[in-house]
Amino acid sequence: MAIETIGVVGCGLMGHGIVQVAAQGGYAVIAVETDARALEAGMQRIEKSLATLERKSVEKGTDPDTAHKKTGETRARIRPSLEPASLSECDLVIEAIVEDLAIKKELFALLGQTCGKNAILATNTSSFPVTDLARASGRPGRTLGLHFFNPVQIMKLVEVVQTGETAPGLVDELRTFARTCGKTPITCKDTPGFVVNRLLVPFLAQALLLLERGDASQEDIDTAMQLGCGHPMGPITLADYVGLDTSLAILEGWVTRFPDEPDFRVPEILRRKVSDGHLGRKTGQGFYPWDGDKKA
Ligand code: 3HC
Repeated sequence: MAIETIGVVGCGLMGHGIVQVAAQGGYAVIAVETDARALEAGMQRIEKSLATLERKSVEKGTDPDTAHKKTGETRARIRPSLEPASLSECDLVIEAIVEDLAIKKELFALLGQTCGKNAILATNTSSFPVTDLARASGRPGRTLGLHFFNPVQIMKLVEVVQTGETAPGLVDELRTFARTCGKTPITCKDTPGFVVNRLLVPFLAQALLLLERGDASQEDIDTAMQLGCGHPMGPITLADYVGLDTSLAILEGWVTRFPDEPDFRVPEILRRKVSDGHLGRKTGQGFYPWDGDKKA
C-alpha cells in the first residue's frame, strides 16, 4: 500500500517540523492537536518556517514567484484538525506529543482503535522503548520508531527504529518515506536512545559535569568542542537548544531503568536549571540567555 496521507499528532517543537517536511515531500498531511490554542501555535510556527524557507531559497537564486508557488503548494497539503478521528484516513500516523510514557501509551491505544488496519503507526519518542508503545497500540507489528532531529526542517537524519515484533517490509517503507521528506534514514534496534541520543545525551551530561566541577567555563567548553571537533554548536549551547527538560527527562528515565550503567548520570546543575524553570531556548533562559532561536 502506497503511503499518501500522513497524520502527525502534536504540533510542537518537533511535530510542526515533521508536518512541514512531510508536506514538502508531497504528502497530504493532517496535523492534529486536541487543544485549539496549541494547534494555532503550531500552524503559526509552520507559517514562520515556510517564510524562512522561501526567503532562503530566493537568496540562493530561486525565482521569487517559483519559491512563492512552492511554499503555497506545501501549505495547501497541510490540514489542521482538532479531531483525532480524522486520523482514520491516514496511511501513516506519526506521534510527536509530550515525552510522557503514560500519555503516549494512551494515545497509541486510541490510534490502535481509530486508524485503518493497514495504517503504519510511528513514534518520534527520543527515550522511551518503542516496544512499549507498539504493544499499547494493540498492533505491535505495525508500530515503529521514526525519530527526527531538532530542528526537523534542517537536520537530515531520521532513525527508523524496529522492534522484535516489526512486520517485514515496514522498515523499508519508512526509509522510503524519510527519503521522500528529504532525509537520510538509518535503521536501528529499540535500545535506549537508539544511536544518536545514546551517544549524545551522555556527552551533554559530561559537559555539564565538567562545568559543575569548575573545570572550565561554559563558554570555553563550547568553544573547545566547536573548534576542537568541528561541532556546529558546543554541548552546553546544544543542551539549551534541545531543551534542558528534555535532556533531564531522558537521563532520569535511564537512571531509573538502568541504575548500574555508569554513562547515565544526572548533573545536579541540570536539575537546578530545570527546577528554576530555565529550560533553555524555549523559555529564553538556560545556561545562556536566548532571543528566539538564537543565543542573545
Ligand atoms: N525550512 C526548511 N529549510 C530551512 C529552514 C526552514 N525553516 N531554515 C533553514 N533551512 C535550510 C537553509 O536553506 C539551509 O539550506 P542549505 O544547506 O541547502 O543552504 C539549511 O537549512 C541550513 O540553514 P541555516 O544556514 O539557517 O542553518 P545554520 O547553518 O545556521 O545551522 C543549525 C543551524 C542547523 C541549528 C546548526 O547550528 C546545528 O546543526 N546545530 C546542532 C543541532 C543538533 O545537533 N541537533 C540535534 C539535536 S539532538 C535531537 O534533536 C534529538 C532529540 O531527541 C533530543
